[in-house]
Amino acid sequence: MSTPESPPARVPRHVAIIMDGNGRWATARGQGRNAGHRAGIQSVREVIRAARDLGIEVLTLYAFSLENWNRPRTEVSVLMSLLEEYLEKELDEVIAHDGRVRTIGRLDRLPASTRRAVERAVARTADNHGMQVVFALSYGGRAELVDAARRIARDAELGKLDPESLDEKGFAAYLYAPDLPDPDLLIRTGGEQRVSNFLLWQIAYAELHLSDRMWPDFRRADLEAAIADYQRRERRFGLTSEQVRPGSGTSEPGAR
Ligand code: IPE
Ligand code: IPE
Ligand code: MG
Repeated sequence: MSTPESPPARVPRHVAIIMDGNGRWATARGQGRNAGHRAGIQSVREVIRAARDLGIEVLTLYAFSLENWNRPRTEVSVLMSLLEEYLEKELDEVIAHDGRVRTIGRLDRLPASTRRAVERAVARTADNHGMQVVFALSYGGRAELVDAARRIARDAELGKLDPESLDEKGFAAYLYAPDLPDPDLLIRTGGEQRVSNFLLWQIAYAELHLSDRMWPDFRRADLEAAIADYQRRERRFGLTSEQVRPGSGTSEPGAR
């Protein structure tokens, strides 16, 4: 039985991952950066399976940022091919588990063949009700906010929206995937301690888990450890401990 001292272990509904460190993983092995991207695919597979087994509802994977377009052309093209290959090979397994593939980002910048593979995966899984895997592709958090602002301005111009009535909930309805809950847990692999333009709006209250593991080394056990770390956190959302866990603290009598 659970007591206030031992709350039931909550599984985060939405986990978002900045999959970083492929290049360094490969360089450390005397290989080219693209070998790291290839190796990283196995981590994607394993982490998706593990997330499904844990009962996570939404897994968002940062696969390619808008800034990543500025990498050397050959690296960009290898990343696009790997993405196509991955979607072709893995789609059946996703479908077998009733999984749904979604994307966020400026997909119009993707090469036609990559875009087709992505759109096919999204369309073929659109009616599924299992875990949602959201690929952030050609994604930038600021761009997402700008895109939302543009659509808001357009709706205001058309008289469909009263600017004075716009609130946070109304704003969030203009984001790329407005129906998704905000990430509860944001994981970054690869040892860097930054957000790199990922989900700027949505991570307002996400718990952060920074892992030194390079993405190709990040596997099921690492995800499980990140979840266990999350389950030890107290999420206060600006309140006090006593407010979120009545009976936990040393509050003065009569305090509320
Ligand atoms: C993450 O690994 C994959 C992408 C950004 C596409 P990196 O390619 O950034 O690897 P590092 O950070 O250079 O090691
Ligand atoms: C963030 O990694 C983007 C993805 C994982 C897709 P980067 O390697 O591009 O981020 P920075 O440049 O280190 O901030
Ligand atoms: Mg990197």
